[in-house]
Amino acid sequence: MERIVSEEETIEDNFEQNIRPNSLEEYIGQSEVKENLSIFIKAAKLRDEPLDHVLLYGPPGLGKTTLAFIIANELGSNIKIASGPSIEKSGDLAAVLSNLEQGDVLFIDEIHRIPRFVEEILYPAMEDFTLQIVVGTDSSSRSIKIDLPPFTLVGATTRAGDLTSPLRDRFGIINKLNYYTEDELKKIAIRTSKVLNCPIDEDAALELARRSRGTPRICNRLFKRVRDFALVMGDGKINLDITKHALDKLKVDELGLDETDYHLLKSIIEKFNGGPVGIEAIASSIGEEQTTIEDVYEPYLLQIGLLKRTTRGRMVTEKAYKHLGIPYKENK
Ligand SMILES: Nc1ncnc2c1ncn2[C@@H]1O[C@H](COP(=O)(O)OP(=O)(O)OP(=O)(O)O)[C@@H](O)[C@H]1O
Ligand SMILES: [Mg+2]
Repeated sequence: MERIVSEEETIEDNFEQNIRPNSLEEYIGQSEVKENLSIFIKAAKLRDEPLDHVLLYGPPGLGKTTLAFIIANELGSNIKIASGPSIEKSGDLAAVLSNLEQGDVLFIDEIHRIPRFVEEILYPAMEDFTLQIVVGTDSSSRSIKIDLPPFTLVGATTRAGDLTSPLRDRFGIINKLNYYTEDELKKIAIRTSKVLNCPIDEDAALELARRSRGTPRICNRLFKRVRDFALVMGDGKINLDITKHALDKLKVDELGLDETDYHLLKSIIEKFNGGPVGIEAIASSIGEEQTTIEDVYEPYLLQIGLLKRTTRGRMVTEKAYKHLGIPYKENK
């Protein structure tokens, strides 16, 4: 049976757990988010009240789960974990909520995937710390109200737009995580190198950072692979040459684009004349799920200006033609 709540993380592998920063101080980048959270956490502690509910949103791998754990750590609270897709029935959510203790942080990952009729249970729980459930069947059914201990809900989502407004409105603190700069990712690579006890040259760390799509998870994943190349082909120390060689072998280009990005951009150019084209047509032409394109690939391509969104659909930009080495034809 799938566990809905667990004290520790079950999905993430050990590697991610080990290199995960544990405090706001260790958490690199996202300085505005960090500064604000640090004030709100201090204030909640001074007042001896639970922190207001926090919503974290942004593309995959930018540190939402990490931040949820850090919030619990900084509050000195226990964290309980649930995920949207595993909450299918009202009873699932009621079980999660009734398991909470005073001051707990309840982390709900992929919160946008809780079904609407189940989500309604969260409203009074978030607002008044009460759980309203219906007991009995048909004619004898009645609604009972149970008091919950004060707690902090931390919700994470890659799709803030899919959240209903009644749910979104009940979060007192809403933070968007942004793509990381090269300099921040370089710091993350250097931090990972220390945690894993695997030395990396400054210029190699910068190269890794450049090719990580603004994303710490990708930076750490590439770090692991480059480390393998360094061990087998060199003396274990990661230098610039080995990094470039490894990343080329992994088919990660200078902008961090991989084969799927190429496939996507080229399809729009070759099959749709550069666009504008709808997301459904792109998805079926490259055989990827629409949501994967929207959540994983497109945000970064938009961010670095290789793709743009118009009212008529997605269009490949002149910069993308240049990057792919394809002559640019202006589209009417
Ligand atoms: N600010 C940061 N400083 C250092 N490492 C980070 C930072 N943010 C994320 N990481 C690293 O990146 C990895 C991915 O982060 P995390 O799992 O928190 O992302 P996420 O936003 O929850 O992704 P998803 O949307 O897929 O759930 C973690 O293993 C963590 O070590
Ligand atoms: Mg996560």
